[in-house]
Amino acid sequence: MESRGLIRVAIFASGNGSNAENIFHYFKESKHIQIAYIVSNKKEAFVLERAKKLGVPSLFMDNKEFRQGNRILEEMKSHSIDFIVLAGFLVLIPANLIEAYLDQIINIHPALLPKFGGKGMYGDFVHRAVSESGELKTGITVHFVNQAYDEGSIIFQKSVDIEARENPNKIAEKVHALEYEYFPAIIKQVILSK
Ligand code: GRF
Repeated sequence: MESRGLIRVAIFASGNGSNAENIFHYFKESKHIQIAYIVSNKKEAFVLERAKKLGVPSLFMDNKEFRQGNRILEEMKSHSIDFIVLAGFLVLIPANLIEAYLDQIINIHPALLPKFGGKGMYGDFVHRAVSESGELKTGITVHFVNQAYDEGSIIFQKSVDIEARENPNKIAEKVHALEYEYFPAIIKQVILSK
């Protein structure tokens, strides 16, 4: 088997970063995969506090500069990043980054796409929409990232039962539990299948 070097992963997150921290811990002892960089478009995002606490190099880049595309691509290359994970990242990924990392950028969406996806569908907005729809199940979707929100090809889905019109906070708890349980293993599976 070819001896594979360490694969360096960047996580992009706009908010709390509980998935980012969970993913970091999952790969902490890994010989193959390293969480090497955490990027946020929000200066005050708690995920940047988590990065500092975990000792992971981090970067704040505002939306305007991020969307322009060149600097984030340079940052990825200068940090020898091989793979990008979006975990609660609320900015559309610029085309040049998608081209440079074809099928090497994945995202987790807190619902069963194609339902409850697309622009503006993130965090509690998703759980509220799921609750109001009267759905009896929700779940997570891990997908490759292309140039449209939540439309890349689906890699993995896992559902969980809910009550019709269940409290969105309860739905969020159930979805987060799925994310923490499944997302790191899916990331590993996709990276090592390359
Ligand atoms: C998660 O629910 C994820 O599915 C969605 O954004 C949320 C991020 O939560 N994309 P956190 O910042 O990881 O706590």
